[in-house]
Amino acid sequence: MLAADFLVFSSILSAAWCQAGIKALYPKTLNATSGSCLVIPCQFNISKEKEVFLDRSPVATWLRGSLWSLYDTDNFTNAHRQLEPQMKMVGDLRKKNCTSVMMNLTSLHSDRYFFRLQSEGFSVRETKSVQINVSDSLAEPRVIVPVLREGEVGNLTCTVPAPCPSATPNVTWDPALGGNITQWTQLNADGTQSVQSILNFIPSLRHHELKVNCVSTHLRDREDKPLLSHKTVILNVEYPPKETQISLTGSVWLGNNLTLTCQSNANPSAAHRWFMKKEGFLTCAFLYCGP
Ligand SMILES: *[C@@H]1O[C@H](CO)[C@@H](O)[C@H](O)[C@H]1NC(C)=O
Ligand SMILES: *[C@@H]1O[C@H](CO)[C@@H](O)[C@H](O)[C@H]1NC(C)=O
Ligand SMILES: *[C@@H]1O[C@H](CO)[C@@H](O)[C@H](O)[C@H]1NC(C)=O
Ligand SMILES: *[C@@H]1O[C@H](CO)[C@@H](O)[C@H](O)[C@H]1NC(C)=O
Ligand SMILES: *[C@@H]1O[C@H](CO)[C@@H](O)[C@H](O)[C@H]1NC(C)=O
Ligand SMILES: *[C@@H]1O[C@H](CO)[C@@H](O)[C@H](O)[C@H]1NC(C)=O
Ligand SMILES: *[C@@H]1O[C@H](CO)[C@@H](O)[C@H](O)[C@H]1NC(C)=O
Ligand SMILES: *[C@@H]1O[C@H](CO)[C@@H](O)[C@H](O)[C@H]1NC(C)=O
Ligand SMILES: *[C@@H]1O[C@H](CO)[C@@H](O)[C@H](O)[C@H]1NC(C)=O
Ligand SMILES: *[C@@H]1O[C@H](CO)[C@@H](O)[C@H](O)[C@H]1NC(C)=O
Repeated sequence: MLAADFLVFSSILSAAWCQAGIKALYPKTLNATSGSCLVIPCQFNISKEKEVFLDRSPVATWLRGSLWSLYDTDNFTNAHRQLEPQMKMVGDLRKKNCTSVMMNLTSLHSDRYFFRLQSEGFSVRETKSVQINVSDSLAEPRVIVPVLREGEVGNLTCTVPAPCPSATPNVTWDPALGGNITQWTQLNADGTQSVQSILNFIPSLRHHELKVNCVSTHLRDREDKPLLSHKTVILNVEYPPKETQISLTGSVWLGNNLTLTCQSNANPSAAHRWFMKKEGFLTCAFLYCGP
């Protein structure tokens, strides 16, 4: 009991000290795919008097994070070496860029990680962690479908996270609707990356209520079968009235009631009006406020 109290006490002390020593900035949570890698975008600030240490080739590590490993030392890390993901520092520490890559991840690596910088006679830790979740499945794509109008160029946008730049997902459309596809990698505000695919096409009547899939494909280091994930959207194409028809029930006799029906196919459905230009001549007209 005494020992436990002491532990908590000393870890609070060291946390307070660390906060003064370093301020690192990285996302609070990151998702990764098992069998792949993960980039942790990271930047840090360090107190003026400690900046000299940056020229003495400090070692940057990510401590796997219960209170134990945060408090405890390399002994814990060594004892659990097989549970530690392989790491690579890709940022330039002298430029306060601590961007790192975790490689060959499995779901066993899901945990909190704390950034630590060390060199001789110097060690600082960030007290906020990044929660890394490694999943065996691929994130579902996000698809944006704007209002589509018949005959007017429209585009569908599909975005999928790309946590590992050396294995970016491939985004395809099924069906591709005879359109043009543009794909690029975009940088998000938190430093992570996404792949975006834009399908540029001309909607027609036959695309109305059609199901379209955005499919994300991800090749993995250790597997021959790629991972797949998809999102299905149903298109809604607006079009002006078509196939206008007038039908008549009842007999055209004086004093008889006659029912005239005016029909048309439009999306959104159009309102109609009757016009009588001349005695005996009726016109049915649809109002359409489309393009
Ligand atoms: C991680 O994945 C979960 C579940 O798929 C999702 O809800 C969450 O938004 C994702 N987080 C990030 C930072 O992408
Ligand atoms: C580092 O300090 C600069 C200047 O005060 C600030 O603009 C920047 O956001 C800080 N970066 C981090 C990671 O705290
Ligand atoms: C470090 O771990 C080893 C075995 O993993 C153990 O024998 C040793 O006593 C530990 N040292 C400390 C200081 O806890
Ligand atoms: C940090 O380094 C990584 C890897 O070299 C680079 O992609 C990223 O743009 C750098 N970040 C900043 C803010 O310079
Ligand atoms: C990835 O990890 C597996 C088992 O954890 C290992 O067999 C394989 O060699 C590793 N691959 C790389 C490229 O490190
Ligand atoms: C990550 O995993 C933790 C623990 O399983 C869970 O509590 C958290 O909601 C997950 N976060 C995301 C963004 O999926
Ligand atoms: C997508 O469509 C909108 C509106 O039609 C247009 O402004 C935009 O430039 C299009 N984007 C691409 C990449 O075609
Ligand atoms: C991506 O998908 C396209 C279209 O299906 C295909 O031609 C290409 O080879 C794929 N690339 C990868 C890396 O899977
Ligand atoms: C697709 O690209 C071709 C060649 O650049 C162009 O002629 C065509 O109009 C484009 N189609 C659409 C739907 O934007
Ligand atoms: C015609 O319809 C009106 C109103 O529904 C009704 O009052 C009238 O009796 C009908 N006339 C005949 C001949 O069916």
